[in-house]
Amino acid sequence: MAADTDTSATGRHDVPVGIIGAGTMGEGIAQVAAVAGHQVQLFDTNAPLVQAAIGRIEQRLKRAVEKGRLTATAAAAAIARIDAVGALAGLAGAGLVVEAIKEDLGVKREVFAQLEEVVGDDAILTSNTSSLSITALAATLRRKGRFAGLHFFNPAPLMALVEIVPGLDSNPEVLDTLHALMRQWGKSPVYAPCVPGFIVNRVARPFYAEALEVLGEGAAPVAAIDRAIRGAGYAMGPFELMDMIGHDVNFAVTSTVFNATFGDARYRPSPIQQELVASGRLGRKSGRGFYRYGDNAEDVASAPAAAAQPRRPERIESGDTALRTALRGAGLEVIERDELGGWTLVDGIALAMTDGTGATLRQAPDGRSDVVLHDLVLDWSAGGAVAVAAAEVARPDALAIVANLFAWLGRDVVSVGDVAGLVVARTVAMLVAEGAEAVARGVAAGEVDLAMRLGAGHRTAPLQWCDAIGAATFVNLLDKLEDHYRDTRHRVPPLLRRMAATGRRFHTGDTER
Ligand code: NAI
Repeated sequence: MAADTDTSATGRHDVPVGIIGAGTMGEGIAQVAAVAGHQVQLFDTNAPLVQAAIGRIEQRLKRAVEKGRLTATAAAAAIARIDAVGALAGLAGAGLVVEAIKEDLGVKREVFAQLEEVVGDDAILTSNTSSLSITALAATLRRKGRFAGLHFFNPAPLMALVEIVPGLDSNPEVLDTLHALMRQWGKSPVYAPCVPGFIVNRVARPFYAEALEVLGEGAAPVAAIDRAIRGAGYAMGPFELMDMIGHDVNFAVTSTVFNATFGDARYRPSPIQQELVASGRLGRKSGRGFYRYGDNAEDVASAPAAAAQPRRPERIESGDTALRTALRGAGLEVIERDELGGWTLVDGIALAMTDGTGATLRQAPDGRSDVVLHDLVLDWSAGGAVAVAAAEVARPDALAIVANLFAWLGRDVVSVGDVAGLVVARTVAMLVAEGAEAVARGVAAGEVDLAMRLGAGHRTAPLQWCDAIGAATFVNLLDKLEDHYRDTRHRVPPLLRRMAATGRRFHTGDTER
């Protein structure tokens, strides 16, 4: 039993759920709670919005019935369980309250202060805040133990992930009650630390930031970067995703995390995105972001026309086991030369994966200058685009020779400028770093990856990448990037460095909480 809160009743369906704020999130959360069987009391200072929200929930449930996902009786019962309440006092009987009003510490604190005068001592109070400190929100409460973050994702009825966030004073039993309740609601809850961005909004930052840095360096246009990232198995490239999220929202999240970490270079916002926000190019919702939408729509990250039958290279020697195996599988003759390390020599060109050094600066075997670097590849047989960059002094046909080689693997190349860490390698290395930092803060590796799959749609989650490629590769990449840019942005998390030294993996259980 909690010291100052009886949480035992909250898991029962007959406990009324109060929701404050009938906007985007409050409406979705009301639907989820009602479908899960709770009586829902929905309050908004703008009363007509509550009725409108209930109307939209009704429409959505109707569509769910038409699609056979819900019976008509269950839908009718769910809608009947939602009551519009005209004042905060109407939440008096709630066992759980979820606050989803505007993102403002002062306003939220004021609402919770009033709420404490209304609800019973047993009620659990939560905020759906995406960026405010749970500790700071709880600070002005009389009973701080009963308060926690309950962070749903948009749209709440569809997104399974819920981050449960403790403040410094949250009672552990309250957190466990919320966890059990979210499972009853059909959600996938994870415990997230009370740090700016919690798990998803923090770990996902490099997915956008690295792409913006590569763009800012003038190394590649947006469509090329998107294609390279899609080629690594992500459902969308970073620029098309930012356009979908909205640059106002995405920029605000980055800025919040940056400011809340006292200006940590890892989260430095991009002036390029700031310009888009300033001009009103907010993405899909405004008809233009990095791409154009509507009548003059551009093809987002479209694939190139299929290449002609590739020419058989004259001579291939390789010390890269994975690439060698893939090329042999494609019917090419490859001379095994392990002394080349990760290098492959193809018709006089020295080819290797980026290690965080640019192609022009990279030392190739025998001091060759015809160097081409390729991006990080998880599985050569998966198809898709691969970013490549040639050294500035390489012969003019260097990229064409590599493009021809990769065509044998069903891979097309995205030619980019000589940017350190190319596109996928530097992005994934930074995602791995963020994932490692979350584990160091006590989040289980499985929960970090689950959160990134469900909350950010990453098919291969950060710590899965790390286990598949090896921590040592990412530590080397990050060290070289930090050296290259002389910037703490790419610094290696101490945990990741230790894992590289010991060869441990995130998902073997020994680092999981
Ligand atoms: P919204 O602007 O769509 O809705 C906020 C609602 O709160 C409005 O209907 C407004 O009338 C009402 N409201 C404002 N002050 C109030 C008060 N004192 N008492 C009662 N109602 C009041 O906002 P949205 O997007 O639903 O966000 C709500 C919260 O959820 C914010 O804390 C936000 O950070 C968080 N969040 C938002 C996500 C999103 O994608 N929109 C995702 C996850 C969390």
